Amino acid sequence: MKFILNDRVVEETSLPSDFTALRYLREKRGLTGTKEGCASGDCGACTLLVGALEAGDVTYSTLNACITPVQSLAGKHVVSVEYLAELGDGLHPAQQAMVDAHGSQCGFCTPGFVLSLAGLYENAAVKEQGLNRESVCDAISGNLCRCTGYRPIIEAGLAMEGQQGHLLSQQDWLKAALADLDNQALATEYLRPNSLAQALAAKRQHANAEFIAGGTDLMLENTQRYKDFGVLIDLNNVAEIRQLGEQGEQLIIGAGVTYSELEDFSKTSYPQLYNLLSRIASRQIRNRGTIGGNVANGSPIADMPPILLAFDADVRLDKADGSSRVVTMSEFYLGYKQTQLADDECIVAFHISLDKLAEFHRFYKVSKRMEDDISSVLLAARFTVNEGRIEDIRLAFGGMAATPIRAQVAEACLQNVAVTDDVALQQVLQALREELKPMSDMRASAQYRLDMACSLVRKAWLELNGHTVPSFSGHPVPESWLALGQEVGQTKGANHA
Ligand SMILES: Cc1cc2nc3c(=O)[nH]c(=O)nc-3n(C[C@H](O)[C@H](O)[C@H](O)COP(=O)(O)OP(=O)(O)OC[C@H]3O[C@@H](n4cnc5c(N)ncnc54)[C@H](O)[C@@H]3O)c2cc1C
Ligand code: FES
Ligand code: FES
Repeated sequence: MKFILNDRVVEETSLPSDFTALRYLREKRGLTGTKEGCASGDCGACTLLVGALEAGDVTYSTLNACITPVQSLAGKHVVSVEYLAELGDGLHPAQQAMVDAHGSQCGFCTPGFVLSLAGLYENAAVKEQGLNRESVCDAISGNLCRCTGYRPIIEAGLAMEGQQGHLLSQQDWLKAALADLDNQALATEYLRPNSLAQALAAKRQHANAEFIAGGTDLMLENTQRYKDFGVLIDLNNVAEIRQLGEQGEQLIIGAGVTYSELEDFSKTSYPQLYNLLSRIASRQIRNRGTIGGNVANGSPIADMPPILLAFDADVRLDKADGSSRVVTMSEFYLGYKQTQLADDECIVAFHISLDKLAEFHRFYKVSKRMEDDISSVLLAARFTVNEGRIEDIRLAFGGMAATPIRAQVAEACLQNVAVTDDVALQQVLQALREELKPMSDMRASAQYRLDMACSLVRKAWLELNGHTVPSFSGHPVPESWLALGQEVGQTKGANHA
């Protein structure tokens, strides 16, 4: 398996399937600028830039090396912090800006921040992405610093304004070298099928093999629970599960679509979805994590399942024998971490009716931190309104039970009532308190979850009635919260929906 590591093509002929990019750089290449902080995708100390040839341009995205199998980077340009200073005369602009803004103290987090900012610098022109407070905050949303504080780091990012360019991708040799590489893995224990049929055949052949998409759930079993994986089947080359777009009366979201891809797609057409996506994990995780992985993983606190439930999405599942079946999202979850997915099945796509997407809907996520945090409670609500009356309603929750659920008793209270009927609203809130039985854990107490669930439904109701309710979605970051000299951490420390 080959990839470009900084300035040269490297080839590996023997690697375990779950050997991470972080271990590879530090242990096999002596590139210790890439740090290990948490080994769980949370801190960003291990951030790498990975470039791929797309429509003739090399575009870069960040990822967490600690939870990325190095073999998944076959055919890519992998950039570690050591390389940045070799590109031009002196430090890379992202590094120089960090020096000038005093953006580093102990320095442990610094390589990760520098690579996140360098990615923004390199892509700004290619993606016509402005370099402003919002894009800087987005770029570093997965990087934690415990000593410097974020103000000087944000200032460093902003100082690159006007000078963003292509120090990495403008190198003449790079495009040709990338075009020459294939992206095949070693094909011993890490398989990289090129079609859905091949992926399903591999799954049937290797009984204990796991599918891996972004690896942002799966690899934590390796780094946190020390599970050694045998055969991994990487789904990233399977075009059939990467479709994204409207077809006929439906929106099709392939299981292999990443959050970042769905974010780009939904930015103009589906603003509620776009805003919620910005609250999922960090930029690094959103660049890798997929919608199919989120649903297949079966976690009750996953963010996409309630949204798919609220839209009555269908899930298409394919098998190696060529058969295909469709189940609804409400049938998909059977119990805690148990789903309809058979061992030899792959989630292909989610189908959502465009009519339902056009109806009034809201998604609210409550978590302890704004960036990179798992939901305590998530509400996805959809109302079908006809002449001022509610004809149909979905109240789908994450974090309220062993599986993502709909509050069907509460939903029934709003069936066929006027949108202005506040008595009905009180009945719904009472029904929610009786119907929902959330648990207490380190994220939130059962009582807090219940109170939040009621508040979120009330908030959706107010918005349905045309009231403006203060909200913070993550896009865009309000200027006032991030004004220079302000205690950003304090302002953003509270819960937000
Ligand atoms: C730091 C961090 C923050 C996170 N924050 C959030 C958050 O805010 N909200 C949230 O919901 N999640 C969050 N997650 C969880 C995770 O990122 C998501 O669940 C993500 O969508 C998983 O997708 P993946 O492609 O990485 O799945 P993988 O890890 O590759 O796979 C997960 C599981 O799904 C299976 N699988 C994957 N694709 C398919 C398929 N097409 N068919 C059948 N099985 C399949 C795999 O075999 C595996 O069992 C976070 C994770 C981390 C590490
Ligand atoms: S080491 Fe913390 S995100 Fe990788
Ligand atoms: S400078 Fe020490 S953790 Fe950021």
